[in-house]
Amino acid sequence: MKKVGNHSSISRIYLLSLAFLLVFSLPVFAQDAAAPKDAAAMPAATGGGDAAKGKELFNANCAACHNLDKKMTGPALRGVAEKYDKAWIYKWVNNSSALIKSGDAKAVKVFEENNKVVMTAFPQLTTADIDNILAYTSEPAPKAEVAPAGAVAGAGAEKSEGVSNDVILGVLVLVMGVLITMLYLVYNMLSRIALSKGLELTATDRSIQSVCQAFVKNQFLVLVSVIMLMLISAYFVYGYLMQIGVDQDYEPVQPIHYSHRIHAGSNGIDCKYCHSAARVSKNAGIPSLNVCMNCHKNIAEVADTTATPEHSKAFYDGEIQKLYDAVGWDRTLQKYTGKTQPVKWVRIHNLPDFAYFNHSQHVTVAGVECQKCHGPVQTYEVMKQFAPLTMGWCVNCHRETNVKVEGNGYYEKIHKELSKKYGVDKLTAAQMGGLECGKCHY
Ligand code: HEC
Ligand code: HEC
Ligand code: HEC
Ligand code: HEC
Ligand code: HEC
Ligand code: HEC
Repeated sequence: MKKVGNHSSISRIYLLSLAFLLVFSLPVFAQDAAAPKDAAAMPAATGGGDAAKGKELFNANCAACHNLDKKMTGPALRGVAEKYDKAWIYKWVNNSSALIKSGDAKAVKVFEENNKVVMTAFPQLTTADIDNILAYTSEPAPKAEVAPAGAVAGAGAEKSEGVSNDVILGVLVLVMGVLITMLYLVYNMLSRIALSKGLELTATDRSIQSVCQAFVKNQFLVLVSVIMLMLISAYFVYGYLMQIGVDQDYEPVQPIHYSHRIHAGSNGIDCKYCHSAARVSKNAGIPSLNVCMNCHKNIAEVADTTATPEHSKAFYDGEIQKLYDAVGWDRTLQKYTGKTQPVKWVRIHNLPDFAYFNHSQHVTVAGVECQKCHGPVQTYEVMKQFAPLTMGWCVNCHRETNVKVEGNGYYEKIHKELSKKYGVDKLTAAQMGGLECGKCHY
C-alpha cells in the first residue's frame, strides 16, 4: 500500500522536474535569437526627439564639412547656437553667401576666418529643421570618460565573438545547478514522506539507490521517461536535419566592419543607392568602393554619439581607415596614392546553382520591399541572412502574394485572361506561374 502512495508522489515530482528541465534547457537553444546582437535601439543619448532628428539632418547635410568638436572644412559647430542669435543662423544656413554679400559683419568675419570657403546654401531647410540641428549641436560634449570607455569597448569588440559561448556556458552551469537542487529536493521530499508514513529509514533506504529501485519497479514511470526521451531526441534530430544546408542567421565577420544600422538606419541612406543593380538585374550587387568614397572623402570619423557600448568611436574610425587603405586614400594629403588592395566581402546569401532568382523581378516588377526578404536590415550592426532561402519559403510567398497589375502594361491582357480562368479578381504570383518548376530551376 505505502508503495503506491510513495510512487504517485514520485511520479508527480518526476514529471514536474522534467517539465522544469525542459523549460530551462530551451534558452540554450534559443540563445541565438535572444542575444541582443542587433542593438536595434539606438542609445537615447539625445535629450529629446528633436536632437535625434537634428543628428540625422546634420549627418545628411552638414557632416561633409562640419564636425561637432573639430574644425574641418567649416568650424566646429558644438554650441554654435549660443554664439549667434537664431534668426542669424537661419539666414546663414539658408544662404550664407547672400548674408555675406549683404555686408553682415559677423558673416563676413566668419567667412574670412575660414579662408573664404563658400558654404553650401540650404534653402530647403525650414526653421524647424535648423532648430533640430541646433538642438543636436547644443548637446553637451561627451565627458572625458569617453577615452577609457572607448578603450574598454575596443577590447569588448574583439571579445564579442566569445560572448555567445559565455552565454551557453552560463546557461549550462545554471541547468546543472537546477538539476542538483532538484535532486536534493526530491531526496528530501522522499525522506519526509517516508518519515510521515512512520517508516524506519535504514541507511540503504535513505540512499539514492532506493529511489532508483523504486523507479525501475514502477513500469508506468519507466514508460513515461522512455517516451519523453524519445520525443526529445526526435525533436533535436529533426531540428538538426532540417537546418542542413539552410544558412539562416549566417553572420560572417566582414573585412571592414560595415554597419547597415549606421548607414541605412541612422543616416537613412537608400538601399538602392548602394545596391543599385537590384532594380535592373538579377543580382543586387555589392557597391564598389568608389561609391563609399563619394561620402567618405569627407567623412573620416564618426560622430561621438555614434559610439555604442559595443563599439567605440576609435573602433569605427579605424574601420573607415581600413576603407582608406583599401582605396589608397591619403587622409592628410587628401588624395589617392594609387596603392589599392581590394576588399574581399564575404558573401552571405547564396542559392544553389540549380535555382534561379532575379532581384529586378521582385524589386521592380513585383514591388516587394527589400526588408520582406532580408529583414530589418536598417537595424543590423552586422549583416546576416534573415530568410531561410528554402524552396518552401519562395513558394509560400508566391502562394500568398498578389501580383501588382495596376499600371503595369505588361500584365493587362494576360491578367484579364488568367482572372477569367481562375475566376478571381486578384492573382497571386503562384497563379501567374510562380509554382512552375522551370521558372526557378534551370
Ligand atoms: C560645403 C561645406 C559645408 C557644408 C555642407 C556646410 N557648411 Fe557650414 N560652414 C562651412 C564653412 C566653410 C564655414 C565657415 C564660413 C565660410 O567660410 O563660409 C561654415 C560656417 C557655418 C556656421 C558658422 C559657424 C561659426 O562658428 O561661425 C554655421 C552655423 C554653419 N556653417 C552651419 C551649417 C549647417 C547647419 C550645415 C548643414 C545644414 C552646414 N553648415 C553645412 C562649410 C559647410
Ligand atoms: C552605403 C552603402 C550601403 C547601403 C545604403 C546599403 N548597403 Fe547593403 N551592403 C553594403 C555592403 C558594403 C555590403 C557587404 C558587406 C556586408 O555584408 O555587410 C552589403 C551587404 C548587404 C547584403 C548581404 C549581401 C550578401 O553577401 O549576401 C544585403 C542583403 C544587403 N546589403 C541589403 C541591404 C538593404 C536591404 C539595404 C537598405 C535597407 C542596404 N543593404 C543598404 C552596402 C550598403
Ligand atoms: C551616402 C553617404 C555614405 C556612403 C555612400 C557610405 N558611407 Fe560610410 N558612413 C557615412 C556616414 C555619415 C558615417 C558616419 C555616421 C556617424 O558619424 O554617425 C559613416 C560611417 C562609416 C563607417 C564607420 C561606422 C561603421 O559602419 O562601421 C564605416 C566603416 C563606413 N562608413 C564604411 C563605408 C563603406 C565601406 C562604404 C561603401 C560600401 C560606405 N561607408 C559608404 C556615410 C556614407
Ligand atoms: C523576394 C525576396 C527578395 C527581395 C525583395 C530582395 N532580395 Fe536580395 N536576395 C534574395 C535572395 C533569394 C538572394 C540570394 C540570391 C542568390 O544567391 O542568387 C538575395 C541576395 C542579395 C544580395 C547579395 C547577392 C547579390 O545578389 O548580389 C544583396 C546585396 C541583396 N540581396 C540586396 C537586396 C536589396 C538591396 C533589396 C531591395 C532593393 C533586395 N535584396 C530585395 C531575395 C530578395
Ligand atoms: C516576399 C515574397 C516573395 C518571395 C519570398 C519570393 N518571391 Fe518570387 N515572386 C514574388 C512575386 C510577388 C512575384 C510576381 C512578380 C510579377 O509580377 O511578375 C514573383 C515572381 C517570381 C518569378 C517569376 C515568375 C513568373 O511567373 O515569371 C520567379 C522565377 C521567382 N519569383 C522566383 C523566386 C525564388 C527562386 C524565390 C526564393 C529564393 C522567390 N521567388 C521568393 C514574390 C516572392
Ligand atoms: C519559386 C521558386 C521555386 C519553384 C517554383 C520550384 N522550386 Fe525547387 N527549389 C527552389 C529553391 C530556391 C531551392 C533551393 C532550396 C535550398 O537550397 O534549400 C529548390 C530546391 C529544389 C530541390 C532540391 C531539394 C533540396 O532540398 O536541395 C528539388 C529536388 C526541387 N527544388 C524540385 C522542384 C520541383 C520538382 C519543382 C516543381 C514542382 C520545384 N522545385 C519548383 C525554388 C523553387
